Amino acid sequence: MRKITINTDNDYDIYIGRNNFNLIEEKTANKNVAIITDENVLELYGTEIENVVKNKSLKVNTIIIKAGEKQKNAETVFEVLEKLAELGMTRSDVIVSVGGGVVGDVAGFCASVYLRGIKVVQVPTTLLAMVDSSVGGKTGFNLSSGKNLVGTFHQPSLVVCNLETIKTLTKKEFNVGIAEVIKYGVIKESEMFQQLSCGNVENSVEDIVEKCIKSKKYFVEQDEKDCGVRQILNFGHTIGHAIEKLSDYSVSHGEAVSIGMVMISKSAFKNNISKIDCSIEIIKILEQFQLPTKTEFSSKELAEAILSDKKINGGSINLVVPIEIGKCELLKIPVENIEEFIR
Ligand code: NAD
Ligand code: GLY
Repeated sequence: MRKITINTDNDYDIYIGRNNFNLIEEKTANKNVAIITDENVLELYGTEIENVVKNKSLKVNTIIIKAGEKQKNAETVFEVLEKLAELGMTRSDVIVSVGGGVVGDVAGFCASVYLRGIKVVQVPTTLLAMVDSSVGGKTGFNLSSGKNLVGTFHQPSLVVCNLETIKTLTKKEFNVGIAEVIKYGVIKESEMFQQLSCGNVENSVEDIVEKCIKSKKYFVEQDEKDCGVRQILNFGHTIGHAIEKLSDYSVSHGEAVSIGMVMISKSAFKNNISKIDCSIEIIKILEQFQLPTKTEFSSKELAEAILSDKKINGGSINLVVPIEIGKCELLKIPVENIEEFIR
């Protein structure tokens, strides 16, 4: 079992291991517990989680949301909040979020606003959620105007990564998680980037998850509220979020980030920001994991969608650009130049 502690306003531990759901008990003993999960994860792990939580808690209820990015909306959030109230959850009770990034973002948001904030334990069951969304306290949901336009910072009390859950992911969902792993490779972990291209990923998944979480820790601890260096974690995301929105979420988050990483790397080279064209190596590795590298959407469509993105600050936007594999920087550009920059 590996353990990483995140030092933020509230410090918390992240455990990486196998068959370790029992660690949740540490936070649920003598509490009323609301498990929040989606219909797919419920079928796979619902009984196991409920049995663990029942052990020492006072009362356990499960709130089920429909699966998929399109459910990450205000309606789902309000349904969950109503149910928490109907269940009589109090400030000293705890939410246990079990699922991928969608469940984690919705459950985390609900935990942050219900009764002005209650505790949440994150139990990520996708690779993407383990390496990224369950850590760092960003929560939120989408509006029709764009992705993650409502959100809070609410750090979890505990994160339990049970690597056994990765075994039930489809190959495609596993690869979607690899997209975020590749992101860490480009922004900080050049050695991992090289290893990905030659190693057997499935056999080194524990090392990969640990490396990515440590990388996220590095950025989150310096800038918990995302005012500066944490924004580097958004490499590929500005264009990625635009693609997700324009495709009406038929392109998944990881796939959209893959395309976003390629496009922004090409743009950085074309605009003389990076000395080498990092997109060449990035495309090679993305293709190895059957991840997409281009989009049908035009730079005009993408630029329009980006303009509704929350990362716009006054008249400019911070883009994350690669300098080389393993090093990215923030580049502030005026919003009127965005279409030309990414063309
Ligand atoms: P997801 O939550 O939609 O999960 C993908 C699919 O896998 C779903 O159908 C789900 O039911 C299923 N699933 C989950 N666990 C499974 C398992 N063990 N076995 C089989 N199927 C399983 O998507 P995701 O890729 O996990 O997360 C994407 C979301 O995360 C996006 O909304 C993105 O914006 C968000 N995100 C948030 C942060 C953050 O910091 N808060 C960071 C990165 C991504
Ligand atoms: N996924 C980006 C962040 O947590 O900041």
